[in-house]
This record gives sequence, structure tokens and C-alpha cells, in this order.
Amino acid sequence: MPHFLDLATPKAAGLRAILDEAHRRKAARAGMPRGAVDADAPLAGHVLAMIFEKPSTRTRFSFDMGIRQLGGSSIVTSAGDMQLGRGETIEDTARVLGRMVDAVMLRSNSHSTLETLAEHAGVPVINALTDISHPCQVMADIMTFEERTGRPVAGSTWAYLGDGNNMANSLIEAASVLGFDLRLGVPHGYDPDQAVMATAGCRGGSIDLVRSASAAVDGAEVVVTDTWVSMGQTSAKEKLAAMMPFQVTEAVMAKAQPNALFLHCLPAHRGEEVTAAVIDGPQSAVWDEAENRLHIQKAILLWCLGKL
Ligand code: CP
Ligand code: NVA
Repeated sequence: MPHFLDLATPKAAGLRAILDEAHRRKAARAGMPRGAVDADAPLAGHVLAMIFEKPSTRTRFSFDMGIRQLGGSSIVTSAGDMQLGRGETIEDTARVLGRMVDAVMLRSNSHSTLETLAEHAGVPVINALTDISHPCQVMADIMTFEERTGRPVAGSTWAYLGDGNNMANSLIEAASVLGFDLRLGVPHGYDPDQAVMATAGCRGGSIDLVRSASAAVDGAEVVVTDTWVSMGQTSAKEKLAAMMPFQVTEAVMAKAQPNALFLHCLPAHRGEEVTAAVIDGPQSAVWDEAENRLHIQKAILLWCLGKL
């Protein structure tokens, strides 16, 4: 069953096919009304269930618009509105949904909930963010890099600054599978997931954990950051203080390559992980990155449903 739970399982060939399809399909529908269906309507008659345990703007709209553009439809709900919220098990929920829809997308507090859903659903399951990873977002980031530079991601140099969170973990997986260099500037005590680091390290790829922003961004072609306080976490003064030396400022960007891209999955907190001058400045590609969630989601759906 082709689940999209992380960036390691589809392997390099699967990720490459998804990226190529996203670029191709984006170009093919240039100028069409946003609600118009792609000419080949490859998912006509298919239904995607979308379940959210946490808030979402980009993921919700991109998957919903994406399935429509592919000729299919969606059912969108929060977990709290389902019997899940009253204690029905995820196993039983999976078995029921698997009898009714063609694929399930879940944004979950816990990665193990996602894995249990995938084990019992009998239809493809997509990770729309967990505490451990955010693979769809990182695919949109890579698509944005390739679109802006006109080069494949393999062999490029990326820096990630800030919290060793779900975004950092997915970037680590991507670097190891697709073969790009990733330097993570993360303060002590906020490292990425150890299991993700260990597995990626065995796979290959160049992944380095450093303790200063300048060491991380030196010569990088892309600088990525994310919120210092993820959904479900409480803001702590101590953490914000530890993160401050890793804020993406114009001075930090100046140490990267001259035309380095700035990426952020959003939502952003100007004055915390990034200054307004950077995110609203000429090197920022965050709006293309947000739009590309739509195009990459469509390719991920096609891969999951055996259409690539
Ligand atoms: N970047 C991202 O996943 O955004 P949402 O939380 O708005 O879906
Ligand atoms: N790390 C963030 C990503 C939001 C898209 C979070 O989990 O809240």
C-alpha cells in the first residue's frame, strides 16, 4: 500500500516522480481558473477524507483544492467532530473509512496514531503533519528550490536554523534520500529526533548538526526556518532565549550565497525565528512555497493512488 507517511519510504525514485509530476502539472494548468479540473481529470470519482487534530490553513486548502483539480472530491473534518473525539479507536475509525473513501489524510498530534491508521485503513494514508514529521511541506520546499533555480535538488546546499522539530526531521530525511547537503543550526537541548538522525546517517547524504547560525548558513543556497513554538507546545522564555541566536536576519542571510533563497513553511512569527526584512524581502520565496503545497499535494495523491 503506497502510504505517504515519511520521505524515506517512497525512495528517491518515488520522490523524484512526485516532484516531476508537480512541476509538469503546475505548468500545464497555467492561466486556468483555480477551480477548473485538469484536462485529464485523473482522480475523477475518487474521494479523499481529511482529518485534522490540529489547526491548518495551507494543508487544508491545498489538499482540498488539489483533489478538486484532479477531478475528485473531499470530506474535511476535525477529529473532535468524529467519534474519535469520544474515544472510538483509531483502528476502528480506519476500518470504517477504508470501506468508504479512496485515501485518508491525517494531521495528528502523535506519529503513532498516523501509523496505526495506515496499518488498518486498507487505503493509502497521507501524513499532513505529526509531532515527528511534515513530509508534504518539505516536498513543496524542494519543488520551490527547483523552480527558482532551474536545477534538481541533488547536490545543493541547504541550511536549517532553529528548533529541531518536525520540519527539521523531514528535511533530514529528504537530504539523505535525495542527496543534498543539509547543515542544521540548532541550540543544545533542541536537537532533531535521534531515530531520524540515526537512520538518515546510515542511508548517506551529508547531514551536519552545528551550534551556530553562521556555521550553518555559510555558503548555503537555501536558508530554512520554522516557528520556535510548534502546535501543541507551550511557549517558554528559556526556549525563546536559546533560539534567539538562530534567528534569520539580514546579517545571517549575508553569510549564505548571494542569491540564497529564504523558505518558511508558515505561519511565521516576525521578530522571532525571522525578521520582517528577510521574510518580506527579495530573497524570500515563501509565497511560491505556499502555493506549491497545492501542486505537490496533487502529485502525492496521484502517487498514492497508483497514477504515477
Ligand atoms: N505549513 C503548513 O503546514 O501550514 P498549515 O498549518 O496552515 O497547514
Ligand atoms: N513545526 C510547526 C509546523 C507548522 C506548519 C508545527 O508543528 O506547528
